[in-house]
Amino acid sequence: MATLTYMPSDHVPVMAQELIALADPQPGEVAVDMTFGGGGHARLVAERLGPTGTLVCIDRDPTAAERFMRIDDQLGCHARFIRADFADALATLANEGLRPDLVYMDFGVSSMQIDAWERGFSYSYDAPLDMRMDPDAPLTAGELVNEWPEQRIAQILRSYGEERHSRAIAREIVARRPFATTAELVEAIRDAVPPAYRFGRGHPAKKSFQALRIAVNSELESIDAALPLAWGLLPAGGRLAAISFHSLEDRRVKRFLGARAQGCICPPELPVCRCGHEPEAKLISRRAVAPTDAEMERNPRSRSAHLRAALKLDVPPAAQEGQGPART
Ligand SMILES: C[S@@+](CC[C@H](N)C(=O)[O-])C[C@H]1O[C@@H](n2cnc3c(N)ncnc32)[C@H](O)[C@@H]1O
Repeated sequence: MATLTYMPSDHVPVMAQELIALADPQPGEVAVDMTFGGGGHARLVAERLGPTGTLVCIDRDPTAAERFMRIDDQLGCHARFIRADFADALATLANEGLRPDLVYMDFGVSSMQIDAWERGFSYSYDAPLDMRMDPDAPLTAGELVNEWPEQRIAQILRSYGEERHSRAIAREIVARRPFATTAELVEAIRDAVPPAYRFGRGHPAKKSFQALRIAVNSELESIDAALPLAWGLLPAGGRLAAISFHSLEDRRVKRFLGARAQGCICPPELPVCRCGHEPEAKLISRRAVAPTDAEMERNPRSRSAHLRAALKLDVPPAAQEGQGPART
């Protein structure tokens, strides 16, 4: 099997060994990589699947599709690529009747996307205000900041960026628009926030850029749609693993898997269980796994990462719906 080498511009996969340990891909299995990116995780999973295994790779970014074309024959397993939003791609796979043993996802943007300065993901380069992962998608960051009402912009900055100066930033954006480039936007954000924040620990535009990117790409809506679809594809014994980079993503995964790992769902005041509900998931690690200090040092992008994984259990449908025999 040919080995892949990382180019300096490649995406370095985050928590790769931890993902392999928790998701445990086996020779001959079928896996779905929902966020192919630079193929870093895919490469390691494919190695474990071997020549009899199959890896279905998904990404909505055409550069990820190009990357797949370049490394496809080095992956060492059967592999195919679907360029689409992962929720749409999973629905297609469900229609095809695919029953993968493993589905995994690594949310957010890739280094390849951030380093392609002309795409406008980074506050460190001056570029057109784009930020679309899928360049065919209808909404750009430019349209959002130039056309959306102040209140809606403030709400996005607050909810998706947890930006405490959201109102001041939105006010400044509306006063200064139209914006053509990221540098103009960074300047407006800088001027809107107090000096302590401007010269504080993080870049003053970091949270706003994260918020705009999440809104432009409808990232949270896609995750909400994809998690049940991914879970639905898995047979009993199948594993789902997710790497998140901020609390909005991790909370979704935690709640989704937590709800499936829950047994009795009777109201707490009932002295005995009457629901008969059985867990359909076993959490592979009870808490989210964080990167090692060495990885955080080596790859600062990994600092906020959290990995969660769960195993699908064999549960009769009646017990899943809470219609099983009452336990007394
Ligand atoms: C963090 S990168 C993945 C990196 C990859 N695991 C690797 O090791 O190279 C996230 C990727 O997911 C893609 N992505 C994010 N949201 C998506 C969605 N809703 N549908 C399809 N692809 C998505 C992005 O385009 C990006 O390439």
